[in-house]
Amino acid sequence: MKGVVIYWSGMGNTKMMAEAIQEGMNQNYPTELYYVSEFDQDITQYDKIALGCPSMGAEQLEDIEFEPFFVNVESQLVNKDVLLFGSYGWGNGEWMEEWQQRCFQSGMNVVTTHIVNETPDDTQLTEYREIGAKF
Ligand SMILES: Cc1cc2nc3c(=O)[nH]c(=O)nc-3n(C[C@H](O)[C@H](O)[C@H](O)COP(=O)(O)O)c2cc1C
Repeated sequence: MKGVVIYWSGMGNTKMMAEAIQEGMNQNYPTELYYVSEFDQDITQYDKIALGCPSMGAEQLEDIEFEPFFVNVESQLVNKDVLLFGSYGWGNGEWMEEWQQRCFQSGMNVVTTHIVNETPDDTQLTEYREIGAKF
């Protein structure tokens, strides 16, 4: 069993979530952590895949690095266990709803999704470690 956490973060909020989730996953199986533009592995080698991206644009995935990455790997994640997470600001989480639907349509097994308003606090980070450990 092997896991990976791949994320994009502009201001560091989604990065904090990514690190906490990886810490939790690592308790059960080795889990690698990548900033999205540094991911150069074959994604099909992982059993558990956590993907993080904040709400950007107008309720969209970040379009310069994350969206192109996701388009590339989307068809390789059929039947894979996927956890989605990300931070948002003034919206209502619509980007995550749409992302989750897109993943379902691509045949992924979306296990859970987690969103946080702006910066996660210590309680939330503890929760993300637990979520990672349960994934
Ligand atoms: C260019 C830009 C577009 C954004 N668009 C949205 C949006 O559509 N909906 C929303 O809720 N937050 C939006 N935000 C707020 C970010 O999602 C929020 O600040 C988040 O915490 C950033 O996460 P990060 O620190 O991981 O980059 C936007 C922020 C920026 C800079």
